[in-house]
Parts: sequence; C-alpha cells; structure tokens
Amino acid sequence: MRTPYLAGNWKMHKTVSESVEFAQELVRTLSSSRSKLMVAPAFLSLPAVAAVLQGSKILLGAQNMAPEVEGAHTGEVSVRMLTDVGVNVVILGHSERRHSYLESDELVNRKVRLALEYGLEVILCVGETIEEREQGRVEEVVGAQLREGLDQVDARQLDRLTIAYEPVWAIGTGKTATPEDADAVHAYVRTVIGAMYSPDAAQRLSIQYGGSVKPTNVKELMAMENIDGALVGGASLAIESFAPIALFDA
Ligand code: 13P
Repeated sequence: MRTPYLAGNWKMHKTVSESVEFAQELVRTLSSSRSKLMVAPAFLSLPAVAAVLQGSKILLGAQNMAPEVEGAHTGEVSVRMLTDVGVNVVILGHSERRHSYLESDELVNRKVRLALEYGLEVILCVGETIEEREQGRVEEVVGAQLREGLDQVDARQLDRLTIAYEPVWAIGTGKTATPEDADAVHAYVRTVIGAMYSPDAAQRLSIQYGGSVKPTNVKELMAMENIDGALVGGASLAIESFAPIALFDA
C-alpha cells in the first residue's frame, strides 16, 4: 500500500510574511491528515517556513536546485544551502524549468543525483506537451525523461524518489487529464521503472499527478490504481482549496 502524497508547489507566489502566515494556517488545519504532505515555497521563504513547519507533519520542499555543490554560479542555490535550512524535498525537472529555462534531461539528471547524494528526497517531474500528445509520442517522451533523468541513480536511492506526471498542457490551464488518461501514463511510468530497476521497485514507487488538480477532481484522480498523490500548483495557494485536497480521504 502506497501512502498518499499531496504536495503544494507555490511557484513564484507569496512574500516571506505571506508564506509564514499561510504555513501556520496549514499546520493548524492539516494536523489530522493521514497522507504525506509537502509544501514548496520560494527560496527566500524557506528558512522562515522551516521554523513554522518544524514538529508538524508537513515536509518542506524547494522548487529547484543548482547542479553543483558550490562555486561561481551567480544566482543559483545549492543543495547544502537547502539542507542547512531544513529542506526535506526538492522538485526537479518541472516543465516550467524545462521550457522557460531550457533545462535538459542531462542537467536535470545532475541535479537528481546530487540531491539524492546529499540526502534530500526528490520529486522528478515528467510530462509531454500537447503537440507531443497529439503526435502519439507520450510514452516516448515520458520514457526518455525517466531514463535520462534517473541515469546512474542507484536502486537503493529509490525510496527517496517520487515521480510527478505533469502533462504540460494541463498545468495552470484548468484542463485536467482524465483520471483514465493520467492512470495510463502512471502505469507506463511503473513499467519503465520496473524495467530499469525491478518490479518490486516499480510497485513501491509513489507517482503524483499534477495539472489543474482541484478539490473537485482530487478524489477521482486518487481513486485510480496508479495515482498515488498530487503535485498542486494554483490550488495549493489558498487554504480553501488546498485543505480539501490534502484531506481528500477525511
Ligand atoms: P496547476 O495545479 O496550477 O495546474 O500547476 C501544476 C503544477 O505545475 C505543479 O507543479
């Protein structure tokens, strides 16, 4: 049985004080959740939100990370800086990073390996564009993102890995993949992981769906066999929308 894993990616929203206030509200509201929970504020808010989440059941996530440990890399944030302030999880390979900042699978892989080496949990995002879906290339694209993103990742590190399937066309658009379409891709992700590692590793792997997850669709998504959680953008920014998602099985 895989534990449901609901995560909020706040993207470039909320100042430090807004993040602290919201995190306090989340700690109060979500204490009864039986799921694994995580929120990923902007870098600047991480230390202050870490203090709020300490002792709660909500994990602290970062939205990105540099592929090097330190050095002359203007504007970057390193894995040591993240672990130092109490970050537990890092989101890597998000489609906004892949498309707006041209992150390649090779770059994402360097980040994945570094994060795992330094003890962080990783959420590796994969997903196709609408053109790729219309060309019938979903499995080719997602398969390559998995194989290249996880290159040289050891089987023993997989217990700290989550895959987030986020079809690019469903992010921030209000368009959600149907539960059946999402589940089919999640099943394919499991097949790829099974071939790369083992059927047992594939069964244990937690796979989140992301893309316009809302209180109104979370239950039908979570009811699918291969959907183990959600990586939520817009609806993670307010208590009215994130609480019903995090407490979907209450
Ligand atoms: P939305 O929930 O706003 O579609 O964003 C999904 C996402 O990109 C989460 O990482």
